[in-house]
Amino acid sequence: MAKITSPLSIIVGSMLGATEYVADAIKAKCDELGIAADVHFAPNLAEIDRDSTWVICTSTHGAGDLPDNIQPFHDELTSITLNNAYYVIGLGDSSYDTYCGGAETMHATMQQCGATALAQPKLIDVLQHPIPEDIAVDWFAEQLA
Ligand SMILES: Cc1cc2nc3c(=O)[nH]c(=O)nc-3n(C[C@H](O)[C@H](O)[C@H](O)COP(=O)(O)O)c2cc1C
Repeated sequence: MAKITSPLSIIVGSMLGATEYVADAIKAKCDELGIAADVHFAPNLAEIDRDSTWVICTSTHGAGDLPDNIQPFHDELTSITLNNAYYVIGLGDSSYDTYCGGAETMHATMQQCGATALAQPKLIDVLQHPIPEDIAVDWFAEQLA
């Protein structure tokens, strides 16, 4: 709990909605734990607190690409410096060679910005886990314990 700075900013990259369920579930867990959190389904750097801890939840589309809704946000990050802390939760399908490439891209870009990863990215294979929000919330709660 000491590691995070609230309100958390839950930042969502999703094409088909599965990762939105994950973000909603993380937000619900935050509410249960009494941790303030904002969810950004259409992330815009100008609207996100750069000092808060970020929980970046993103799927992967195309061939290892970020979802369209988070790509512009990602591109904005490439020209700034950050010193906040963050988690990355990635949804992907292990039948792709580019498994969870979007999550790996967000992690690499946050590192380049100077932000601090509070954990290695949590990559969730939707082939193995048809209800990825359950895995995500259990993992997230462990991080805060
Ligand atoms: C057209 C398409 C391309 C995909 N490409 C990848 C990929 O390159 N790597 C990967 O790990 N998963 C890939 N996936 C799987 C999605 O990341 C996975 O289904 C995820 O749960 C979708 O989450 P979303 O509904 O939040 O977008 C792809 C899915 C589709 C439909």
